[in-house]
Amino acid sequence: MAKRTIGDLSNLRGKRVLVRVDFNVPLDAEGNITNDRRIRGALPTLRHLLNAGAGVVVMSHLGRPKGDPKKDAPFRMDRVAARLGLLLGNPTIKVDEVVGSSATAAAQALNPGEVLVLENLRFHPGEQSGDASFAAELAKLGDIYVNDAFGTCHRKDASMVAVPAAMRGKPRVVGTLVAKELDILDRLLSHPLRPFVGILGGGKVSDKMGFIKALLSRVDRVLIGGAMTYTFMKALGHNVGSSRLEADKLDLARELLDLGKGKIELPVDHLVVEKIDAPQTARIVEGDIPDGTVGVDIGPKTIARYSDAVENARLVVWNGPLGKFEDDPYSKGTKEIARVLSELTPKGISIVGGGETAEAVEEFGLAEKMTHVSTGGGAFLEYVEGTPFAALAEIDDK
Ligand code: 3PG
Repeated sequence: MAKRTIGDLSNLRGKRVLVRVDFNVPLDAEGNITNDRRIRGALPTLRHLLNAGAGVVVMSHLGRPKGDPKKDAPFRMDRVAARLGLLLGNPTIKVDEVVGSSATAAAQALNPGEVLVLENLRFHPGEQSGDASFAAELAKLGDIYVNDAFGTCHRKDASMVAVPAAMRGKPRVVGTLVAKELDILDRLLSHPLRPFVGILGGGKVSDKMGFIKALLSRVDRVLIGGAMTYTFMKALGHNVGSSRLEADKLDLARELLDLGKGKIELPVDHLVVEKIDAPQTARIVEGDIPDGTVGVDIGPKTIARYSDAVENARLVVWNGPLGKFEDDPYSKGTKEIARVLSELTPKGISIVGGGETAEAVEEFGLAEKMTHVSTGGGAFLEYVEGTPFAALAEIDDK
């Protein structure tokens, strides 16, 4: 069932709109924002509301705070609020609490076109426990609820589920970013163009079990890369040297290989090194990975095969880097496949799952050339798997 969106709202002038966004952006050790894609992703929704004369209360979590104010300091929302104000160009203030008298007073004092950013929702214990009285306090801050946090839609945190539940009777809609993510994924998964190719990388087979199964039931081919390669290889009885693998997940890998017979393709060659921090020892090997070496990227023959598969596809969904791409000497496979994929449009459709894969294509300067780069990491995987989201059940139907 299609959900009501901000486009379905009228008479926003003078209204206070409570918007749940996912500003859980990557930070460096000092707490500086290293990638603001998720903040930029929410701008269309916020601009729409502000231009229509609403005052906007923005709420998000940031990181996984542990309840120790000193250690949690990098997760305060100050820098996120400052970046948002800069990008929006509207008056933007931030309060140092999630709920309480100063948050309430600041929300009540909002003028049309002004933005209030609340402190990190996860600083309050009620957020992740889904506490109803905490949710009721947040709910009082808005006349309208907007969910524009696609990246958090798989969570049952209070701001995602209990807050819209507490606001039944008031308009509860999705923002532009959520509407676009749902629309693209729904259309593609229900009527996929063919050939449909999945590219799967990253470390753990076990993290992506449901996603891989869901993909296998829909795609024509799945191309494997990243550290999960070595778990699959080991499951097939190959030597993987000292490569990273999930030794206790070999049965799981075998189960997937059985399920995906004829569809799952593993790399035919690999870039290996003697030690992760010794790129000068890098060489290409075919077939098994020799003892005393570690696999760090797909090799040139695999790059050529995978590029060919991507070039001939009409729809490609990619999740997970194909090698240890954060180290430049080991980034070639991920970079090359990203480049080939970025050239698929307009002939075909390229969908990149969020998290590290989205960060990789941004870093390579290719994000704008993809059909869609999701802002969801876990949410993207779970949506493709077909997991129903409680957060969306609380949004009004069209
Ligand atoms: C994400 O980055 O996947 C979302 O912001 C959810 O964050 P979480 O995994 O800490 O709940």
